Amino acid sequence: MKIAVLKELWPNETRVAASPETVKKFCGLGAEVVVEKAAGKGASIPDAAFKDAGASIAATAKAALKDADVVLKVRRPMIEGERQVELADFASGQALCCQMNALTDADFVDAMAKAGVTGFAMELMPRISRAQSMDILSSQSNLAGYKSVLDAATEFGRAFPMMMTAAGTVPPARVFVMGVGVAGLQAIATARRLGAIVSATDVRPATKEQVESLGASFVAVEDEEFTQAQTEGGYAKEMSDAYKAKQAALIAETIAKQDIVICTALIPGRPAPRLVDEDMLKSMKPGSVVVDLAVEAGGNCAGSTPGKIVTKHGVKIVGHVNVPGRVAEDASKLFAKNLLNFLTPMIDEETKSLKIDLEDEVVNGTLVTKDGKIVHPLLTQQKQEDAADNAEDAAGDDDKAEDAEAGSATDDGADAADAKAKGD
Ligand code: NAI
Repeated sequence: MKIAVLKELWPNETRVAASPETVKKFCGLGAEVVVEKAAGKGASIPDAAFKDAGASIAATAKAALKDADVVLKVRRPMIEGERQVELADFASGQALCCQMNALTDADFVDAMAKAGVTGFAMELMPRISRAQSMDILSSQSNLAGYKSVLDAATEFGRAFPMMMTAAGTVPPARVFVMGVGVAGLQAIATARRLGAIVSATDVRPATKEQVESLGASFVAVEDEEFTQAQTEGGYAKEMSDAYKAKQAALIAETIAKQDIVICTALIPGRPAPRLVDEDMLKSMKPGSVVVDLAVEAGGNCAGSTPGKIVTKHGVKIVGHVNVPGRVAEDASKLFAKNLLNFLTPMIDEETKSLKIDLEDEVVNGTLVTKDGKIVHPLLTQQKQEDAADNAEDAAGDDDKAEDAEAGSATDDGADAADAKAKGD
């Protein structure tokens, strides 16, 4: 079995989908690993380190992909109409494991099906205990949460910890974390380590205890809706407008007292909730900092801009993209380990080949395309619903056409009725 590791081509992508440790483990399992030249450059992993671990180095992606059974990437390959058509070098039957945002990137999924690639969307990993070690969203969010606090500290003109010096006392910074998933929890822990006074909010009730156990205080409207705000999958639900209004009032009051706000709130498959508005920004002290980790999903904060640091009402709004990629070495190592943990049970010990067990929840939860078809239930269901909507629209258009035909015969009557209604 041959595993190819490709260099990432998307702008700002510094990570790589393998590490010397995972290469060594794959080789130990009987696989042959080929790494594209300079694939680890952005993560400070030289080709020599991959070579020492047992990989061979290919000069180009095309060479790495030749006869590969499995392809490892961080981000999905580019398709027709993008900077470079990476998918063109893939062969039918090859398995691809990477982050592909499959639920929202229909063009890519269609292209992958057409190319006959067996696609595993790692972001769809089911949230079950067994799959924790394969969960790229967790491993990368954890590092993003950590880095978001350091990014805030870099932009902040004051210190985080309280310092009592001969020249006077420096007060501790007040940090407010919005959204207490994996990233938010790490942000709380990091800000606490730096000596800040930390508070946090989330719509999932389970987070209250987690926040308090990290030494931070919890801020939320704890009404009946709040007690039911978590899906079975462990994610947040979209809240009602009434709840959002109550929450916004409480948050407005809290934010006015903060120096730093770290936004991490996400709802899978939907735009990020807007939690910090213009008025809230106006209420903050000049020099305060908002880091918006949700910026790529539409942003939690008004005015946050992907890839930019903007100043609004004296507040710096940090919108770095691909924040895990700003800790590229560790992010790559953890991402690579997630892929290793996912693939290891699929490598048959005797034949040393890939055996896809479609009964396995971890496999069918992530498998998006196979044998030229889109196979993921969430996507096939979506396609059926779209087809039904289109059929309904078409039927509606037919009805309208019939009405229009019938209407033209009675236009005079309708005009008369209209005129009557107007009192003419
Ligand atoms: P996420 O990245 O989808 O969202 C971040 C946070 O934003 C969540 O805590 C969410 O509740 C919060 N949020 C959404 N709307 C909000 C609003 N209007 N106001 C305030 N906060 C809002 O979440 P993430 O980090 O993926 O974690 C979700 C849960 O899944 C956690 O409980 C985590 O522990 C669990 N999990 C379980 C795994 C497993 O069992 N394999 C692996 C990873 C996470």
